[in-house]
Amino acid sequence: MKKIRSGIFGLNPLLDGGFNEKSTNVILGVPGTGKTTFATQFLKRGLEMKQPAIFISLDENQDQIIHEARERGWPEMEKFVDEGLLLFIDASGKEFTTFIRDELPKFVSKWSGANARVAIDPLTPVIWAVENRYDQRELISILMKELKKIGTVVCTLEEYGIEDQISSKETIIPMYLADSVIHLKYVRKGGDKGFNRLLEIIKYRNSRHSKQSHQYNILHGFGIMLQQFDEPKKVTKKIPSLIKRNLIKEKKLPKNIKNMLTNYLESLNDHDFEELDIPKVIQNLMEEYT
Ligand SMILES: Nc1ncnc2c1ncn2[C@@H]1O[C@H](COP(=O)(O)OP(=O)(O)O)[C@@H](O)[C@H]1O
Ligand SMILES: [Mg+2]
Repeated sequence: MKKIRSGIFGLNPLLDGGFNEKSTNVILGVPGTGKTTFATQFLKRGLEMKQPAIFISLDENQDQIIHEARERGWPEMEKFVDEGLLLFIDASGKEFTTFIRDELPKFVSKWSGANARVAIDPLTPVIWAVENRYDQRELISILMKELKKIGTVVCTLEEYGIEDQISSKETIIPMYLADSVIHLKYVRKGGDKGFNRLLEIIKYRNSRHSKQSHQYNILHGFGIMLQQFDEPKKVTKKIPSLIKRNLIKEKKLPKNIKNMLTNYLESLNDHDFEELDIPKVIQNLMEEYT
């Protein structure tokens, strides 16, 4: 899997190197958590390497976004527009159904293979545009599939402050269709001490990822900066080998099952078994197959 550096400082190691190339990635959070910062920072990282970028905005126009980027310490975004590297699609006044079904495929056919970075900020109005859940699913699915043909996609999604209930009616469809979901959130420190910002990777197809909460700050100019975290543990395979040895010893286990299970163990490491009780793992396997 080819990896794309996210541009978010400290995030790549948590994503096993970065975003997967040609994937769609949802950034979920309540207002003010840093979704627009994330999307802009992701595009800017590509633009720095002359990789084309497309910003699809659904509720703000190009001037507003360029103005906000300048305020965040990124005046060069305007220069990238002048150079023809950064393209805006202002869908704010448009009828999304027609836009996605008719205009988008034409646009994509012109850009396919461009290996661009694409940001949709925010995706939420597309969900509001149609009432029927099947239509919502179809529209979001077309949008994500089409845009992946152009390159690597980041979509932001508004969340509604119900604590610990991230999959609301509005967010479940894009979360389900996306290749990865990153959750940005606030956690109150207690009393009048304000809040911490936390990032969690809650889904990541086809890749290993961190399952911890990671504190971050938003710094003028730099953007999202993750705080120090524990170094990812060195990849060792002692536990898979131990399980393998135990399985091989089991006389009651059919040979083809033994082969299948030891094959699965090949792609796992000690980290994968961190939260598991090893005798219990072996017991589970024996219980199922003998
Ligand atoms: N011009 C700026 N300079 C410094 N910090 C900013 C600026 N704009 C936004 N921020 C910080 O980034 C936070 C997240 O902003 P934003 O990315 O727009 O959030 P969201 O898109 O999730 O609503 C803001 O709450 C603020 O703390
Ligand atoms: Mg925003």
